[in-house]
Amino acid sequence: MAAAVKIAVIGADGQLGSDIVAACRADGHEVVPLTIAQLDITDEAQVRQAVAAGGAGVIVNTAAMHQVEKCEANPARAFAVNALGVRHVALAAAAAGALLVHVSTDYVFDGAKAAPYLESDCPLPLNAYGNSKLAGELFVRSLAAKHWVLRVSGLFGCNPCLEKAGGLNFVDLMLKLSRERREVRVVDDEILTPTSTREVSRQLLHLLRRGAEDGLYHVTAEGECSWYEFAREIFRLSGSAIELNKAAPGEFPMKVPRPKYSVLENACLKRQGLNVMRPWQEALAEYLREKHGIH
Ligand SMILES: NC(=O)c1ccc[n+]([C@@H]2O[C@H](COP(=O)([O-])OP(=O)(O)OC[C@H]3O[C@@H](n4cnc5c(N)ncnc54)[C@H](OP(=O)(O)O)[C@@H]3O)[C@@H](O)[C@H]2O)c1
Repeated sequence: MAAAVKIAVIGADGQLGSDIVAACRADGHEVVPLTIAQLDITDEAQVRQAVAAGGAGVIVNTAAMHQVEKCEANPARAFAVNALGVRHVALAAAAAGALLVHVSTDYVFDGAKAAPYLESDCPLPLNAYGNSKLAGELFVRSLAAKHWVLRVSGLFGCNPCLEKAGGLNFVDLMLKLSRERREVRVVDDEILTPTSTREVSRQLLHLLRRGAEDGLYHVTAEGECSWYEFAREIFRLSGSAIELNKAAPGEFPMKVPRPKYSVLENACLKRQGLNVMRPWQEALAEYLREKHGIH
């Protein structure tokens, strides 16, 4: 791929989108950040017009409705954004001859495998969010001639997660609770790979520099942990004295089913010698240093 390229980023003020904008700019690319105020992907005509007029060689779509409970309560809206909206972007990217980089999720799996999922594993979402994201993936893979679908998981980044209450990601929520409470209880029966948005952005830059086959990629940090183990590492690195305990079974009942195990293996990146994702603990330590000055 050319050294510098024009890159449009959809969802540019989101947790991941804002880091991708910054990383691409720092790498010398011309970046067109698009927030929902400038481009609402549910508006097909607007998407077609913006993509055709923008002239970007690469379109990165981070936009999504991803609050699981909201998606379950309003599946029509979830599909309008995460599936049909993505279809609009895929068609426009194909018409413009642009590479579409589309961000998807570990929640396309049901968790029954209980071992790291490969890109070749069959998805079976448990909820409306996962189903709508899977439909979006399929539109990209069938309509966008040039595409990378990047499945990420458990994101934390320096900028607020716009869909979460107060914008707090899990790390910042734990730090807040450690200042406010003497004890915190966290579930130990959901296994994932926490992944820093900074790392995903670096991985994307690596793909842009080196080029990669069209297709589906798992892009998560190395390793896995439960939410309890994630919290334990946050408190260890931040020197917090808060008492951390495992939540009792059923203490935090899930309103919407979620995979109990959603660890992804970056098999396609590794096969092409392209994986630059580090262990989640290293990325967490970097995040705590850079955002919170914790050394
Ligand atoms: N957060 C996670 O833990 C996680 C885990 C796995 C996968 N993912 C995926 O990673 C991606 C980025 O997530 P994130 O954490 O960065 O989310 P985020 O902070 O909520 O950002 C999402 C962005 O999408 C925008 N958006 C929503 N609907 C839109 C529409 N119709 N048209 C245009 N833009 C729209 C939002 O704008 P407004 O806020 O102004 O509506 C926001 O800027 C998503 O595709 C998500 O499915 C996230």
